[in-house]
Amino acid sequence: MKLLTFLVALPAVTLALQPKAEYRDLPTLRKQDELEKRWVQKRYDFIPSVLKKHGYDAWILSMREYAEDTAFRSLVSSTTTFSARRRTLFLFHTHPEVENPLYLIDNTEDLWHTLNKTLERIDPKKIAVNIDENMSFSDGLHTGEGQLLLSKLGPKWASRTSSHRAIGVEVVAARVGGEEQLGMYKLMMENVWAMVAEGFSEKVVKAGETTAEDLEWWFRDVMRWRIGTGTWFPPSVSIYRSPSEPSVSEHPAMREGDMLHVDIGITAMNMNTDTQHLGYILRANETSPPVGLLKGLEAGNKLQDLVRNRMVPRRTGDGVLKDVRGDMDKKGLKGLIYSHPIGDYGHSAGALIGMTNLQDSVPGGGQNTVLKNYWTSIELSAETYVPEWGVDQLFPLEEDVYWDNETEGFEWVFGRQTEFHLVKPKHKKSAGVALAEGKSGLVAAAARWMGLQVVRWV
Ligand SMILES: *[C@@H]1O[C@H](CO)[C@@H](O)[C@H](O)[C@H]1NC(C)=O
Ligand SMILES: *[C@@H]1O[C@H](CO)[C@@H](O)[C@H](O)[C@H]1NC(C)=O
Ligand SMILES: *[C@@H]1O[C@H](CO)[C@@H](O)[C@H](O)[C@H]1NC(C)=O
Ligand SMILES: *[C@@H]1O[C@H](CO)[C@@H](O)[C@H](O)[C@H]1NC(C)=O
Repeated sequence: MKLLTFLVALPAVTLALQPKAEYRDLPTLRKQDELEKRWVQKRYDFIPSVLKKHGYDAWILSMREYAEDTAFRSLVSSTTTFSARRRTLFLFHTHPEVENPLYLIDNTEDLWHTLNKTLERIDPKKIAVNIDENMSFSDGLHTGEGQLLLSKLGPKWASRTSSHRAIGVEVVAARVGGEEQLGMYKLMMENVWAMVAEGFSEKVVKAGETTAEDLEWWFRDVMRWRIGTGTWFPPSVSIYRSPSEPSVSEHPAMREGDMLHVDIGITAMNMNTDTQHLGYILRANETSPPVGLLKGLEAGNKLQDLVRNRMVPRRTGDGVLKDVRGDMDKKGLKGLIYSHPIGDYGHSAGALIGMTNLQDSVPGGGQNTVLKNYWTSIELSAETYVPEWGVDQLFPLEEDVYWDNETEGFEWVFGRQTEFHLVKPKHKKSAGVALAEGKSGLVAAAARWMGLQVVRWV
């Protein structure tokens, strides 16, 4: 309410709509494959610069069907290549005149001869292999495969191999597809938002009937059958309820006055999304959630801004975490920070910024640096006291950001939640909502525009 007053009082400089999402078609699978192949080619073109940056001349990835290297999925189109075949070997290098990568699929000795001949031409002084104690993105060389590779390389080349963590990490982390890939990611994200908005509405939630599990399976079906994507984790729905009400374990059906939470992501074109939003089921006498809950979401938004602004390329994840915790202390904000890179993997390569149980430093991932051409899931929860419930409540939120070349900063992929999704049980329906569900598209669109668009700070 207060914020709507600001809209009237101030020019529209800092105001923005929380974006309204629609379900939108993804490209055909044939087109998706075409896109992915272009992005894979760009990654091939990018790899020599990573090798040079770290003082290497070559990088060998060797694997067998179903025992793929962790970086494999970053080197093929996920729409048409599901696994390695036979023995699959990539040799990336920095020699300008030799085919790059050398990409072999074979299960005979010929493969090793070809590799050897190519190495003779390139004469790399330093060859990277993916072996790392703590970082899965740089540890894709299976033990047996590695033993064989070293024996087949022979002493000359084997003695030039070493592992270098940053190579696997930076190659998997790189979002090389430019505007085209970002556009597809935004499209996926809009579908996630549309799905959450529908799931957290009276169209799907029936107070007194729907359980968290019902809604989880509803989301699974919508992403598979309506949006046409898979996922990298099953969506989870939680119910937060005032302790003065019957407990969720005894009364699992959603009730008026419940706060809803969802953690949900989809997978397509070898990209993954990760989103957490909050919803609220209005009581008969309410037109908005209790102020205590609104304040919790607001505190979550403040934490999101701190993380987004402190994510500076080349800073380590631990460094960002330290800066954010310092800001939180200064501003008197409580909560947990547990943000992670997202891309070819849901929990992808790059800088981890906290974990739920680690708020000082994260071994391994905390020492990785924030990169450019890179995406992160800003995942966290604010903790505030909710007077209406008489408890300290966590407000978990998650929203993905991408590196924007123009603003030189990390920006929200589709937007970020500043408003609760509202479930308005039947008795609560306003004229606007009733019209929006009517038959006439024009009337419905107008009603949605007038009645349901809500303006908030972003
Ligand atoms: C891996 O992590 C362990 C435990 O944090 C640490 O002792 C070890 O030095 C790390 N290894 C490498 C290669 O970084
Ligand atoms: C690699 O090829 C060179 C000649 O090109 C040869 O001298 C050497 O024995 C070969 N090594 C292996 C392990 O086959
Ligand atoms: C950002 O700039 C880099 C370097 O010029 C370019 O490779 C990349 O495609 C750009 N990213 C986007 C999303 O346009
Ligand atoms: C709405 O009704 C509930 C009881 O159902 C009551 O606890 C609450 O204070 C009321 N809220 C408002 C805003 O009147």
